[in-house]
Amino acid sequence: MMSLLEKLTVCHPDSERAGSIAAFFSKPPVIRTEDLVLRPMKMSDASDIFHYASDPEVAKYVLWDPHRSIADTRAYIRYVRSLYHRALPSSWAVEYRPAGTVIGSIGFMGYSDTHHAAEVGYSFSREYWNRGLATQALGAVIRTAFEQIPGLNRIEAQHDVRNPSSGRVMEKCGMRMEGILRNRLMNKNEFIDVALYAILKSEL
Ligand SMILES: CC(C)(COP(=O)(O)OP(=O)(O)OC[C@H]1O[C@@H](n2cnc3c(N)ncnc32)[C@H](O)[C@@H]1OP(=O)(O)O)[C@@H](O)C(=O)NCCC(=O)NCCS
Repeated sequence: MMSLLEKLTVCHPDSERAGSIAAFFSKPPVIRTEDLVLRPMKMSDASDIFHYASDPEVAKYVLWDPHRSIADTRAYIRYVRSLYHRALPSSWAVEYRPAGTVIGSIGFMGYSDTHHAAEVGYSFSREYWNRGLATQALGAVIRTAFEQIPGLNRIEAQHDVRNPSSGRVMEKCGMRMEGILRNRLMNKNEFIDVALYAILKSEL
């Protein structure tokens, strides 16, 4: 989903904290869970990512359009990798360990140093839905971000109200629903209401 914070970037590039944050975003750490490895995205992930990113059901409630060709996927991976190079908030590829296949992505839609807050978002291949995998990935990202991004206080996420399974993932990861934002976003030519969730570091 589009970020509430996406226009905000690291505001104090000379501070020590900003240096640690830039290090985190430029080299996103590899995160292992029971079934998944979250790791920086590579160009060789293109066919796995195209497989799910071309599925209109996966793209239905997110702000991007389904990929029409592998060239779209390559352009997306190039963009994500350019974010690593610029030390900006970006995404991990999510590899399903038993198969060694990339089945989704998760990452930061925005980060504000001023407000000590980040926004997360994720998408997974339809074949892998309802197995607890998004919950594993989001839980791991929340824990890692609070541990490794100095000063981070709040992580938020938002979902189209017509996409309740995403809200359930947020809830299972300890995020609290804070309200419904009416017509908050324009997605695929219609205004949509979104539910805003957040977790504070003190609630971990
Ligand atoms: C939303 C999405 C990430 C969920 O991933 P997932 O791996 O299926 O999530 P999990 O299996 O960890 O949890 C899904 C939960 O939603 C529940 N759920 C599924 N369909 C539901 C529905 N229609 N209404 C309410 N809950 C639903 C599941 O039962 C499960 O909860 P439970 O463990 O209490 O039973 C996945 O469907 C997806 O990638 N969708 C396309 C992209 C997208 O919409 N991303 C989110 C943008 S905000």
